[in-house]
Amino acid sequence: MTDLLQTEDAGGVRLIRIHRPDKLNALNAAVIDALDAAFAAAAADPAVRVVVLTGSGPKAFVAGADIAEMHALTPVQGRDFSLRGSRMMRRIETLPKPVIAMVNGFALGGGLELAMSCHLRIAADTAKLGQPEINLGLIPGFGGSQRLLRLCGRAATLELCLTGAPIAAERALQLGIVNRVVPAAELEAETMKVARQLAAAAPLALRGLLDCVNVGGECALEEGLEYESAQFGLLFSTRDMREGTSAFLEKRKPVFDGT
Ligand code: COA
Repeated sequence: MTDLLQTEDAGGVRLIRIHRPDKLNALNAAVIDALDAAFAAAAADPAVRVVVLTGSGPKAFVAGADIAEMHALTPVQGRDFSLRGSRMMRRIETLPKPVIAMVNGFALGGGLELAMSCHLRIAADTAKLGQPEINLGLIPGFGGSQRLLRLCGRAATLELCLTGAPIAAERALQLGIVNRVVPAAELEAETMKVARQLAAAAPLALRGLLDCVNVGGECALEEGLEYESAQFGLLFSTRDMREGTSAFLEKRKPVFDGT
């Protein structure tokens, strides 16, 4: 792991912390590549059941794409930079295990885009979220206009992207951009509680569910229903499904091993 990321593993939960606090964890090409490699490694490691992503320092989750790095890019380099970030975020979105964004401060521009590529977002009450690219003569380049639209509709997407003004965590909760807002001092404990709960769940069922939502978000209802039925049926081949149903019938807690 590079020094741009710090990771900790505990009980099936991998915590990945973006570590560039002096630049409010801004996403330059090196951080994007490090995240891409870190998520590929997390996907491939059966001991990792859930990933939590956060930023270092008290101020920021991620304050955006690195403006200093973008400043001198040519159009072709700008497109490549956008594709680089977008591909990394698509890897997160399609990861076969849950990813929780622990939003500990500013999630602006690429930071909000990164959080939106995660499956759940838990924010500190002090966090500020927004798409301020318009203030730089730009628009979101890592999927912000598209994921925001799918998460919370046209009105809020246009408000955030046209004005560039950041919003408080509570308003992001009202708009459906984040799942939960908790006092900043409790953010890590509350996030880890959710992460541990997911780490104890059946990994293949979690994967099936993530696939259903990823596929279903982009297709017609009939197709999505067919896909869900196929995934549902597939889970009858797993030991964990027998374990889960047996444990219920035997009135005990299930122990899922991912097979
Ligand atoms: N890219 C590159 N560097 C960034 C950055 C970004 N997106 N966001 C913050 N930084 C750097 C600052 O340049 C500063 O570096 P320096 O100490 O070498 O001058 C350092 O991080 C601290 O930021 P600073 O602006 O001094 O902190 P602040 O508390 O006064 O303001 C923000 C915080 C988030 C309001 C402000 O940093 C900001 O507006 N950042 C840009 C947000 C943005 O437009 N993101 C979208 C990019 S597409």
